[in-house]
Parts: sequence; structure tokens; C-alpha cells
Amino acid sequence: MLCEGEIIFNLTKKINKKIISELKRVIQEYNKKKGEKTKNNFDNSKIIIKIKSENQTITDYALSLNKKLKEFLGRNYKIGVKSFKIKNYKVSINLDKKALKIPKIPFINKIEIKEKKAVIFYKEISEDFVKNNNVERTIKLVNEKVKKQYYEGKSEHHEIIYSSPKRNPVWNKNPTEEMIKQNWIIQGPTKGKWIYRPQATAILRAMENIVLNEILKPLGFVEIINSNIISGEKIWNKTGHLAGMPMELYYVAEPISRDPKIWEEFIDELKITKKIPYEKFKKLVKINPLQGLTYAQCPIFYWSLRGKVIKDSTLPLKVFERKTNSFRYESGGRHGIERVDEFHRIEIVYIGTKKQLIELREKLMEKYKKIFNEILEIEWRTAWVMPFYLQQAGEIKEDFKDKIYGTMDYEAWLPYRGSREKSEWLEFQNISIVGNKYVDAFNIKGQKEKLISGCSGVGLERWVAVFLAQKGLDPKKWPKGFKKYLPKIPKGFEFL
Ligand code: SER
Ligand code: ZN
Repeated sequence: MLCEGEIIFNLTKKINKKIISELKRVIQEYNKKKGEKTKNNFDNSKIIIKIKSENQTITDYALSLNKKLKEFLGRNYKIGVKSFKIKNYKVSINLDKKALKIPKIPFINKIEIKEKKAVIFYKEISEDFVKNNNVERTIKLVNEKVKKQYYEGKSEHHEIIYSSPKRNPVWNKNPTEEMIKQNWIIQGPTKGKWIYRPQATAILRAMENIVLNEILKPLGFVEIINSNIISGEKIWNKTGHLAGMPMELYYVAEPISRDPKIWEEFIDELKITKKIPYEKFKKLVKINPLQGLTYAQCPIFYWSLRGKVIKDSTLPLKVFERKTNSFRYESGGRHGIERVDEFHRIEIVYIGTKKQLIELREKLMEKYKKIFNEILEIEWRTAWVMPFYLQQAGEIKEDFKDKIYGTMDYEAWLPYRGSREKSEWLEFQNISIVGNKYVDAFNIKGQKEKLISGCSGVGLERWVAVFLAQKGLDPKKWPKGFKKYLPKIPKGFEFL
């Protein structure tokens, strides 16, 4: 890395010749230690240092020299250093890959790229910008964005691990359309939401009971209840969701005040016009601090354990959550219950040692296998895919050899989409070991051993979509194992 720039220190007082000659000595000594050479200028109450370095970033150099100058000037002359800034700062970066095009990067004034070298240029940056490590993160971002250029449009990693026996579907219709016709489900008032009538609700609940009885009770998982509202600052900024998928989150705005007087004009206008006065409304709600609705259920649970040391006797910690819905802002158009903006899911979360979690994942996978092969009798498969926690944080993984940490998707054939060979199968649940990403983000520790964590998301709508797509809506044709969980479809509402 090659850096050059001018650091300007602003002092609280003017400096005289005597101080200047001492400062020259102090800076020279300091440079010797750091292995640098600089050109120094002194101007009333400013110290200007021009530097070109191959050893370190100028930000590091400036921060430690700032300390040194503060100490020296404070102790001997009662002069303070008010602040510093860096001007005409140029950093050259070695890239891991050749850039395919010049990436857009904020805060910098210019970027040049040649082969595997990028040079970024700042006209001026402040002390705060330096202290917050923004330059270092900018360098990381340049590299990251160049690497991502290689993945744009490329198909995702997908490595099939297990395929179930083949099954003959009883029909090839789209269950969403059929359920709408029979009044089992109604499209909600806003995009991607559904209202479930007793018939569809019973199927969803049957799926939930299968998971409870066949997996969660026997394996000793205990239920928890999360809050629906997630803090951007405390949670999504730590897990990476806010940088990774801000365009997929649902946001929540609180009123700026609950004083009725403040809302009076809004209410009156609404009463007279019967139309929502949006311009007024915008000023009555706040977006800072950022909050939103659950995207995945595990992050807020990790947050709730922040800073804790978990006793060995509690490990592996095993919980599940099914009370909060997940919200994802999907791309437009009409989709069935297999692709929705609000969905019901049981999220199973586990924290423990590496050995414990590998064992637990095996057990979970065995139980899932039994459910899909012997109770639902569906055609399904598992595949290693891009880990959800990287994908959701907008990161990429290049090496998939290690089959310990990562995400496995469970996918099933939807006959209405076409043949089992050619059509796109539906991911209906996943299982992951996340490694230390989330326990580290929230500083969750074990007594002796390092902890890791993982989760498995059971998408209930998707279980229903898969089951009905293969088995149809007629309970007479359903497998025995499932009928034990749902012997009869409840009667719905009749309309004229
Ligand atoms: N948290 C995981 C996910 O979002 C499992 O539900 O995919
Ligand atoms: Zn999770």
C-alpha cells in the first residue's frame, strides 16, 4: 500500500521559533521510530506534515503523531492540539482481482484503477473520519465491490447432497390458485400477504404440530417469544442485515409524539377530506432511530443474550420461536403462498460447542428426513448453498469445501412448475451452522470453550405449498402419516 498526503494539525496557540525547533526534533525522532521521512512546515498555529509512506496508512501515522504532539505541547508549553485533518490524501490499494469496471465509492473525490491496483483520492478528510476507521473500511469496500463484479449474474452455488425417493404427484395444479377458488385463502390488502381461512389454517397448524411432536419435543427444544420490532442500530447493523439487504426490510415508524394536539390538524383534515394527508403524516412520524419488522427470528434472540457467559449446564442451548412473523419486501407481481412478504415460520436456534452442534445438526436432519419421507411422503432434496448469514449480510463465500459451517437448503419439486428434471424446485426450509458470526457480534461466551451457533428455519407456508403441490387438496389422497395430524378439514364459511 502506498499513501501520500498532508496532515494539518491545528493548535490552540501560536508557536514561536524556539518551540518550532523543538517540534522539528520531536517529529524527527518520531519519524525515525516509524521509519518515515516527512516535509514539515510551521505556520502560526498550524503544523503541516507532508508524508509519503509505504509502511503504513497515513491515518495510523496521523493518529499516533497526534497523541505524541498533544503530550509534548501540553506538558511543556500548555498548548493543545485542537484537531487535525488530512488533505490531498492518496492511497493505492492492491486488489485481489482485476476490476471489470470502476466501482462507485462514496466520500472519495476520485478513483483510478489499473490492472490489480486502485488509487483513491480524498481532497480533505476530518479527524473524526480518520478516527472512525472510515478510510480502512473504504479500502475494504473497494476490494469487496471489485470481487462482487465477478459474481454478478453468475448462478448461485448449489451442491446436491441427498435426494429422496421419487414420488408420483397426485396432480399438477398450483395449490394457491385452487385454494383461492375454494375460499381457503384470501389475498391480503397489501402486497404479498394472505388471510388464511379455517381450512388453510388447519393445514398450517398441522405442519406446526408435526415439527413440535416429531422434532422439538423429542430433542428438548424450548419455546421462546420474541418481539416483533427490530432495532436497526442494536441488531441489524451488527448482524449485517442493514448493509446486506436494506431493500428487503420492512420499516416501522413511531409517532413523533402522542400528544393529540400535535396530531389535531392531521385528524381534522382526514375527517373533512376522508383522504390521508400524507404530507402532514410524514412530519408526524420519525424514522430515526431506525426500526423494522422481523426479517429472521434469530438475530433478536442473539441480541437478548448479548454479553452473557452461558453456563456449561445450559449447553447446547436449544430454543424455538414461532410467535413472530417474518417480513421480506419481495419484488413485485403476484406470487402464491410460496413467495410472500409476510410468512409464518418456526425458527430453531442452537448455541454450543462445535462438537455439540455438529451432533445436533445430525439429529435434526434425521428427524426432518423421517418427516418428509414417512409423514408427508414428498419428493425433496438437500443442497449446500451460499450460507444465509453471508447472503443476508451481502457477503460472498468462494470456498465451499468445508462442509461444517454453512447452510443447507431443503428443496422440493413443485409439479405445477414442470418436470422434476427441468423445473425450479422450491426451497422450503434450511439448516445452518453459522460459526462464530452472531455469538461474536453480540459477545456471547462459554465458560471454557468457544461457542458457535446455528439455526434452522421451517417455513410453514412453504411446507404447505410443497405438500399440496404434490398431494393435492383432497384429504382422501393424503398420506396416512399426515392424516393422523389432520384427520379432517374444518368446514369453511359459506357465502351467497
Ligand atoms: N435465520 C435463517 C434465515 O434467515 C433461518 O431462518 O434463513
Ligand atoms: Zn436464523
